[in-house]
Amino acid sequence: MTAPPRLARAAPPSPAPTGTRAGRILVADDERSLRELLAIVLRREGYDVMLAENGTMALAALARGAVDLLISDIKMPDMSGVEVLRNAKQIDPGLPAIMMTAYASTETAVEAMRLGACDYLVKPFDVDELKLKVREKLESRHLRQENLLLKRALNEPHAFAGIIGRSSPMLAVFELVESIARTTSTVLITGESGTGKELVARALHRHSLRRERPFVAINCGALTETLLESELFGHMKGSFTGADVTKKGLIEGAEGGTIFLDEIGETTPMMQVKLLRVLQERRFRRVGGLEEIEADIRVVAATNQDLSKLVAEGRFREDLFYRINVIPIHLPPLRDRREDIPLIAEHFLAKYRQAMGKSIETISGEAMTRLASYHWPGNIRELENVIERAVALEKTPTILADSLPGHLRGLGPAAPAQKAADVSALPEMGFDLEQHVQSVERRYLAQALERAGGVQVRAAELLGMSFRSFRYFAKKYNLK
Ligand SMILES: Nc1ncnc2c1ncn2[C@@H]1O[C@H](COP(=O)(O)OP(=O)(O)OP(=O)(O)O)[C@@H](O)[C@H]1O
Ligand SMILES: [Mg+2]
Repeated sequence: MTAPPRLARAAPPSPAPTGTRAGRILVADDERSLRELLAIVLRREGYDVMLAENGTMALAALARGAVDLLISDIKMPDMSGVEVLRNAKQIDPGLPAIMMTAYASTETAVEAMRLGACDYLVKPFDVDELKLKVREKLESRHLRQENLLLKRALNEPHAFAGIIGRSSPMLAVFELVESIARTTSTVLITGESGTGKELVARALHRHSLRRERPFVAINCGALTETLLESELFGHMKGSFTGADVTKKGLIEGAEGGTIFLDEIGETTPMMQVKLLRVLQERRFRRVGGLEEIEADIRVVAATNQDLSKLVAEGRFREDLFYRINVIPIHLPPLRDRREDIPLIAEHFLAKYRQAMGKSIETISGEAMTRLASYHWPGNIRELENVIERAVALEKTPTILADSLPGHLRGLGPAAPAQKAADVSALPEMGFDLEQHVQSVERRYLAQALERAGGVQVRAAELLGMSFRSFRYFAKKYNLK
């Protein structure tokens, strides 16, 4: 018996182009039926499809997230497809595109081709031809991306955008940064002082579609409330004494880019309300201004405090906390990722060897053991200081344990303790003046902090220095 005749069946969907990642396609066309047709065809091929009914919507979609291919009609009511492409190339120069046109208008087609990586289809087109072009474009893009990844891996096998690490928590951080960099979601980076929060914030920006736009960092803890407000939002001429000219704030300065709100936990309740409003409505007013200004910014915040604890204590607004903590990134302290210590130490050795023009090649086994077993309260910043100092002091081609500070060698407290009486008397054998001055400096800072009950502003007053300088030194010497 012969098999019953089969009904003609549509060809089965071809497999996703690369087997790993099908890709996201943005389709822009003002004609609804065509948009829908493309959506059906391309989704059936396994692609992720986004639709835009005009140029403005297409640009908004491009700004919002990662797109691998743009398919756009050339003639749309608000702007031409070529214009969309030109804008898209500004955010992502490598974005491939396919333009669709109702007639083979060579002029526009040539212009579109000139913008690069572009192909075009004349309507009405054959669906198979479209599928083929899409696959080609995406495959070559994936190849290019893979090459980039490969190159990066060859150059810096254990680093990501200047962040060194190969411990599993750091690899997870790299992965997270890479996957969220191209979104506009707000990110909260937490971690002890010196763990690399600012470095991660910059990496997020560098890997985002906003990388050509500014990255603006502001330390919310270093300014008074009024100063912070006018720095962030700007002010109108005459809005307060001293406001001689109208000034744009940092939010306007970061237009289209990223703003890094460092030490967000130290903002006052009034500032918290204002920040909440910017995050919620993406609008703000300059100090003394009436006009509402739109804020096209990506917000990355950082803190070394436990914000949820501050919320519980009523010191940080809960609503603001949720607005900020959309994507949390936690950087573990260095003592919890000790396998990274040798790698980071070598990295700083290379950095300072070059900067100081010294020919130090390695770190001795003993010195490395000391480095790897120390508890690093000041994390990577402290490690950097230790290596910098060792490179400066070392007279042999190897960093020996002797060039490490005493407290790393198990010799007493965190500062090379010298008696106050030593200050004026030069020992017979001479000494390292810089190191001595630093130890004296550190001791006074620690005392002032203790006498001020841990209140840094008061400690700064006791030493006749600005709060800012005090913070700088407190950080340098890892005073808590
Ligand atoms: N994984 C890393 N690899 C290389 N350098 C690092 C790494 N982490 C931090 N650093 C370096 O250590 C120093 C401190 O990092 P960063 O300023 O980002 O820390 P932070 O968490 O913002 O500290 P703080 O809370 O004190 O502001 C910087 O010089 C930074 O470049
Ligand atoms: Mg910082």
